[in-house]
Amino acid sequence: MYNITLVPGDGIGPEVSKAVQEIIEATGVEINWEEVEAGAGVMDEYGTPLPEEVLDSIRNNKIALKGPITTPVGSGFRSVNVAIRKKLDLYTNLRPAKTFAGSPTMFEDIDLVVVRENTEGLYAGIEHMVGDDAAESIKVITRKASERIVRAAFEYAKRENREKVTAVHKANIMKLSDGLFLEVAREVAKDYPEVEFDDRIVDNMCMQLVQYPEEYDVLVLPNLYGDVVSDLCAGLIGGLGLTPGANLGDDIAVFEAVHGSAPDIAGQNKANPIALLLSGVLMLRHLDEKEAADSIENAVAEVLAEGETLTADLGGQASTTEITEAIIDKL
Ligand code: NAI
Repeated sequence: MYNITLVPGDGIGPEVSKAVQEIIEATGVEINWEEVEAGAGVMDEYGTPLPEEVLDSIRNNKIALKGPITTPVGSGFRSVNVAIRKKLDLYTNLRPAKTFAGSPTMFEDIDLVVVRENTEGLYAGIEHMVGDDAAESIKVITRKASERIVRAAFEYAKRENREKVTAVHKANIMKLSDGLFLEVAREVAKDYPEVEFDDRIVDNMCMQLVQYPEEYDVLVLPNLYGDVVSDLCAGLIGGLGLTPGANLGDDIAVFEAVHGSAPDIAGQNKANPIALLLSGVLMLRHLDEKEAADSIENAVAEVLAEGETLTADLGGQASTTEITEAIIDKL
């Protein structure tokens, strides 16, 4: 029996979290879910969107499954999602993007892994107004954070028998900040002679990923580029409904999909649970529950290949509940 923190989140979060709990339960893996709430819904009660008990629960269990949490645009509180990553020092954001047969995309055999730095860059949260008509955001790149993220990418590549790591940057323009990231990446690469290494400028990277995705394998990027490029990769494999993620620190792991709270379809039983489910698969692999992880992945592949029970984002008409049942039937 595992003790795992569950943050269902808001928007489509509670619907997709429930689906994932049911599917994991059907594999026979026993989990004692410790459910905690964060986001706008708890502001009145706790005076903060991220109560300390959420962080304590994750620190205590060392592992969490998390649904999306809405961030107000412009004013209002800063992202709870970013705060969780920073407070728990979950410096690696791992986002695999892999096509299944039947994925709704013109691309075939995509198998990319985005390794995004999760704690600094333009997400450092250092912003201020300069007078009334200008605003500055400060981008922070440190040797320490760059080194551990590049090392995490190489360690992942080594462990998963991946061939190549590509560092993505804009060091031609941001010569100091991205220059430091690239310099550190080149240094770390020397410790992993068995893994090929190259680098790309981020705009070129975007074009290359669309034109020659098969030439890339593991990508390591500073925070904002990682965010943008992981949505591009989500697009390559058929959308946000299929793209999982993990936030990893040295001893704490929080698994969450790449997508947000999808307010346009929230509460309508329309959301695709597969992205959070595949995040759950990453979690099962983290727990060494290989059999359960494989069986869920195979069940998802079968449902996608059959193409009979698909949610709207995948081109079908099935509800969250129907696709959940279809996956459970295949297990
Ligand atoms: P979003 O990912 O919520 O939605 C973008 C589009 O994709 C929408 O049309 C939505 O319906 C669709 N979509 C997303 N997930 C889907 C799923 N599982 N099944 C079917 N369709 C799906 O991005 P958006 O609209 O930019 O953000 C909404 C809110 O979510 C914002 O407040 C944002 O800050 C927050 N957010 C939270 C994240 C997190 O909790 N880690 C990550 C990204 C955004």
